[in-house]
Amino acid sequence: MEFTRAAAMGGALALTAALCACGSSTKTVDQTVEAGPGSGSLVGVTMPTKSSERWIHDGDNIKAALEEQGYQVDLQYAQDDIPTQANQIENQITKGAKVLIVASIDGKALTTQIQQAADKGIPVISYDRLILNSPDVDYYATFDNFKVGVQQALSLLTGLGLKKADGSDGDARGPFNVELFAGSPDDNNATFFFNGAMSVLQPYLDNGTLVVKSGQKDFTTIAILRWDPATAQRRMEDVITSSYGGGALVQGVLSPFDGLSIGILSALRSNGYGSGDRPYPIVTGQDAEVASVKSIVSGEQYSTIYKDTRQLADVAAKMADAVLKGEKPEINNPTDYDNGQKVVPTFTLPVVTVDKANYQEVLIDSGYYTADQIR
Ligand code: BGC
Repeated sequence: MEFTRAAAMGGALALTAALCACGSSTKTVDQTVEAGPGSGSLVGVTMPTKSSERWIHDGDNIKAALEEQGYQVDLQYAQDDIPTQANQIENQITKGAKVLIVASIDGKALTTQIQQAADKGIPVISYDRLILNSPDVDYYATFDNFKVGVQQALSLLTGLGLKKADGSDGDARGPFNVELFAGSPDDNNATFFFNGAMSVLQPYLDNGTLVVKSGQKDFTTIAILRWDPATAQRRMEDVITSSYGGGALVQGVLSPFDGLSIGILSALRSNGYGSGDRPYPIVTGQDAEVASVKSIVSGEQYSTIYKDTRQLADVAAKMADAVLKGEKPEINNPTDYDNGQKVVPTFTLPVVTVDKANYQEVLIDSGYYTADQIR
């Protein structure tokens, strides 16, 4: 039995060796496309974590798009552990990756690895999250991150009745009690989301229409390290305990990510919200994750921001294909994403606010989810 397995493995290795001996134009056994320039090359893809489903979709979609073009893909997840991600990138460089696509955990923690890639002439594409403080990030594929924050804030105002769906002023006058959450301080996107949201909310805070009873409004205080739902849940609990005695109610929560929204809603639920005279506050989100879309449908979470990760994966795969062929990838944003060392040529995609009124059309009719997934 053991002998048979070893013999079979030996055979497989010999086959691999035979295929590898043919050089970079080698076709793998199941490869059906004609080898173009760069086809068969290894692309290293590193994603931050599998704990949020969006990154699983991203990774799967990038892999599929690249494999369809005849590339080999090494796809790795680091479970939000920075040294693990650094090791994965180093391994990919050692294995001979010809281009790296990286969605970083900590945008400032990969300078050494990106330098190693540059030393070997390996182009680096930042995926969704910008790698900071490195002159060797070649391209960046992302969504309009400032706009994500703007839309989260507008949705909060709409849910409270301060705005109408068409963007005009609503009939509500306030004041409303709201609490603010931001994303991970080591993720460049978190600042974009926060700044976008505050560009909308600040006038309402200044004139007293919105009141943050906890007093916690600055980014550092409200940021949730590693986007951890349990940390957000604890912070919401603490804020309710410290600032909402005597019958005061939380009426709105700016949450930048569906995972945090789930934690925030749990804290609210265990404090009696969602029943009797304590309705859930208006809670925003991001990523249109299945659990949050279900929560929106059942009237708990108010909204989310949908980002079509199929499109982002496609953009990144096309960027990789272009650089491997010595062509210039298409970009549409040459100005906004400065990583501290250079302004990185970027392609940004649009985002869509999703709530109970449009989830069917945006998420299901578009084929992003099946109706069954949301039931
Ligand atoms: C992404 C968001 C995501 C968050 C947490 C950010 O970098 O842009 O889509 O919600 O990370 O995973």
